[in-house]
Amino acid sequence: MTAVGRRQIITVADPAALATAAAERVLARIDANSGRIAICLTGGSSPKALYQLLATEPYRAKIPWDRVHWFIGDERFVPVDDPRNNMAMARKAFLDRYAPTSNIHPIPTGAANPDEAAESYARELQSFYGAEALDAARPLFDLVLMGIGPDGHTASLFPNYPAIEVIDRWVVGVPKANVEPFVPRVSLTLPTLSCCREMLFEAAGKEKRAILTRAFAGENLPANRAQSIGETVWLIDEPARPEDFRG
Ligand code: 6PG
Repeated sequence: MTAVGRRQIITVADPAALATAAAERVLARIDANSGRIAICLTGGSSPKALYQLLATEPYRAKIPWDRVHWFIGDERFVPVDDPRNNMAMARKAFLDRYAPTSNIHPIPTGAANPDEAAESYARELQSFYGAEALDAARPLFDLVLMGIGPDGHTASLFPNYPAIEVIDRWVVGVPKANVEPFVPRVSLTLPTLSCCREMLFEAAGKEKRAILTRAFAGENLPANRAQSIGETVWLIDEPARPEDFRG
């Protein structure tokens, strides 16, 4: 394990080991909280193996499904039956089988536009949290899962887009994506994502190596600006590990 800035970077052999390591961290966060637990999921392809694993033993039986609430850090503004919908992917991979429906909190893509969906989701988060202002002494999420895109974006916070600078809203509409799929997005803002006990990035495969090289060199990328007020952990696999990086 290597520390770079305020984050830990953990390298494992391959995507299967990555999913197992991530599942162990999910369980550890759940075990650390005997009350109501909030986990913010992510989209993209990287977390799918983790989600599928959480639906299998020994993980499934160890999750107190009634006490865990599942949110999503960003959403593609497409209908729920569209294969590109992030929460739909998570629901199919594990939530629909085990989580009570009232504990699943999707971003409402049936809203008139991404801004309205963002406002509605902000209200839902605030009502869950019980306040309209975030307090670092009381993290909103136990765990926030994240990924990194080829341009260094995370959630739907793209480099040089206004959304990355927003600090006075919990959730924003993003009219245009910087990478595929080119559909409008809705994203939690940096302060909202940061208000967690742990932020956990997953990145696997050689196609991630170029962007991880830039990220670990400290470039000003959205994925580098996203840091938990608690622990920030990057789980990467060997093929994704930058050549000169030992960790
Ligand atoms: C999205 C995501 C996005 C994702 C990264 C990495 O809606 O696309 O939430 O931020 O995490 O683009 O995606 P992959 O895991 O597919 O590489």
